Amino acid sequence: MRNITLENITEAVVASMDGAIPERNREIMVAALKHIHAFMKEVNLTYDEWLEAMEWMRRAGDISDDARNEFILISDIIGVEVLADMLDKKPTHNETISTVLGPFYRDNPPVLPNGSSIIQKDFDKQETVRVSGRICDTDGNPVAGVTVDVWEDAPNGLYEQQDPDQPDYNLRGRLMTDQDGRYEFVGIRPVPYPIPYDGAAGELLKYMGHHPWRPGHIHFMIMKDGFKTLISQIYDSETEYLDNDSVFAVKEDLIGTLQPAPDGADTDYVMTFDFVIRSDAKLVQMAAAE
Ligand code: BEZ
Ligand code: FE
Repeated sequence: MRNITLENITEAVVASMDGAIPERNREIMVAALKHIHAFMKEVNLTYDEWLEAMEWMRRAGDISDDARNEFILISDIIGVEVLADMLDKKPTHNETISTVLGPFYRDNPPVLPNGSSIIQKDFDKQETVRVSGRICDTDGNPVAGVTVDVWEDAPNGLYEQQDPDQPDYNLRGRLMTDQDGRYEFVGIRPVPYPIPYDGAAGELLKYMGHHPWRPGHIHFMIMKDGFKTLISQIYDSETEYLDNDSVFAVKEDLIGTLQPAPDGADTDYVMTFDFVIRSDAKLVQMAAAE
């Protein structure tokens, strides 16, 4: 097409993809182009606004490195990570719902016996909680030998890798369920924290008039061969920001209740939370029945 106009630009770019490309590339790019072009026309985007956006993306790239992916944070504050999770990880058999992984997971946390504490450093105002529960399959049978990775921020609102004053792998642990599918550990009552907002994601939050805060939560990654890995978070029912999480990751079913611990207990609170995981075999059965 030689004469590009407002009317034919989308068609021209779509038509340029005439090489032998996978069908999925075409499907994604045609839809993306249509939406992006329609969005620009809808808001009558100015040239200066486009340039500002390009500079903002450059800043997002500049601040990103192996430890920080600014593009993930940006996708989080516009609801895109949680949307990808909801589209791709839909529960099929009433298994526990997943939510975003976030940027703070670290593999190979300390392997701990059930009941251990993940607290390596005490903070002045921390409150402790014993978290326990059962992991069952979608038929209600306990699943033994499930790997349960847990991680949370410290009472100062920082994950250990953001804070040089915390020991390596503080507030992280890897547990394994026992014969009854039980897991148990001691952590701190999770506190709200702001997602990193000193970069391009923070600029976007300001542009959108939103705050950076997340409600207090504990992360879980629950893994066993032959089962769908469950990545989720449990929220404290009393925490702030449950109704306006900066990354839109809260689900009613993931809200847990901390109860004051009984007299003589070694923590301030206890919380029970059970999980249901789905075996790969269930999915195969479902596909065969269709
Ligand atoms: C988190 O839950 O750790 C998290 C999720 C998304 C963005 C930032 C943090
Ligand atoms: Fe988190």
